[in-house]
Amino acid sequence: MSKPAPLDKTLTLAALDRDPFPIYRRLRAEAPVLRVKALGRTLLTKAADTRYVKDTPDLFSSDDPNTPMKRAFQAHTLMRKDGAAHARERMAMAPAFAPSVITKEWMPRYEQIAAEYVARLPRGEVVDLFAALSGPYAARGLAVLLGLEEVTDTQLQRWSQTLIDGAGNFGWAQAPFAATDAAHIEMNALMDQKSDQYLRAPDNTALSVMLNADDPIERAQMYANVKIAIGGGINEPRDALNTIIFGLLRNRDQLEEVRRQNDWVRAFEEGIRWVAPISVSSRLVTQDTEIRGHFLPKGETVMTIQASANRDEEIYDNPEDFDVYRAKKPHQAFGNGPHFCQGAHVARRAVGQIMLPLLFDRFPDMSLPDPDAVIWRGFGFHGITTLPVLLN
Ligand code: HEM
Repeated sequence: MSKPAPLDKTLTLAALDRDPFPIYRRLRAEAPVLRVKALGRTLLTKAADTRYVKDTPDLFSSDDPNTPMKRAFQAHTLMRKDGAAHARERMAMAPAFAPSVITKEWMPRYEQIAAEYVARLPRGEVVDLFAALSGPYAARGLAVLLGLEEVTDTQLQRWSQTLIDGAGNFGWAQAPFAATDAAHIEMNALMDQKSDQYLRAPDNTALSVMLNADDPIERAQMYANVKIAIGGGINEPRDALNTIIFGLLRNRDQLEEVRRQNDWVRAFEEGIRWVAPISVSSRLVTQDTEIRGHFLPKGETVMTIQASANRDEEIYDNPEDFDVYRAKKPHQAFGNGPHFCQGAHVARRAVGQIMLPLLFDRFPDMSLPDPDAVIWRGFGFHGITTLPVLLN
């Protein structure tokens, strides 16, 4: 009979929020399967284990009722479904993510948006790129793809953050749910209005393809899954862009090489390996099992830490370094298995192919005047929250 995983009573959410990577390094070495009291969950920090869990949905379900997500979203979204129910809802949105649609429709729009947003940045000034570029660019791209172009960048970012705060409200406080409830009224009103339009004049946006499918899913699920994309489609491209800009500005030799070889997509992959925008995912154990000789009872929630998997010494040399030219190995920033990120291709192209070369072309001597002023935060989502850059 395998023994339970060790129980940690010292780790705090605040410490994981501030600077999780030294903690992950220690856990990979000392306790790769660890029950953490502060989280009420078992943390998995080794790449082989996080991949195994996500690739084995029969044993590790996405349908974890112990999270505030259902309450925050007022719905059981595709992210928390398994098997055929999940596949049906994922397929409903799939036409909007088809490679031909991305190439012919979204990329030309994203090029326009990127050009416009970069053009409005001032030259010779220190600017927080989080607020001035990365957030708004990610928001506008998402609004286009989802079919909600009327919404402003500010509004979409606010909805996104509200949903994230609600889904992460593990203390079940009242205020974050009051905020999500208010946001649902606004989002539903816009989607009702847009639905009438798309039923009359279909296009390839996510909302429209779901509404006009031969065998449509329920309207409430369409809205719920658009909201999943709102909650999970802005901050990752935004944070990825910030991380890569930071990584390249701190490693100018790499920046020069990337520029010379036009290796922006490679820089993108290394950026999200180095700091995975979605650091963790939860899965529910469906029957007694074990990992690395540790017993995991049915009903336990495991957290796969892909941010740690991406720095696993068993896979990468010098994993803590940002190194665009490291030996190519697959990373787990987009997840694995049936819930693999549906927006991966769009994000890679929007950030890697379009925004990075454009930004560094317009501001070739961009620099970080004070690297210590760059602030990193977050446990579930980890990224830069302030990125002051001198634009030249
Ligand atoms: C660098 C950018 C991005 C990263 C790192 C990222 C990461 C992820 C990860 C790790 C998951 C899996 C979560 C799990 O296993 O529980 C996921 C799922 C998802 N992502 Fe992304 N994402 C990015 C951009 C986007 C964008 C731009 C969109 C939409 C346009 C998007 C839409 C989705 C959707 C709909 C799912 C749920 C898929 C499902 O449950 O079947 N993502 N993403």
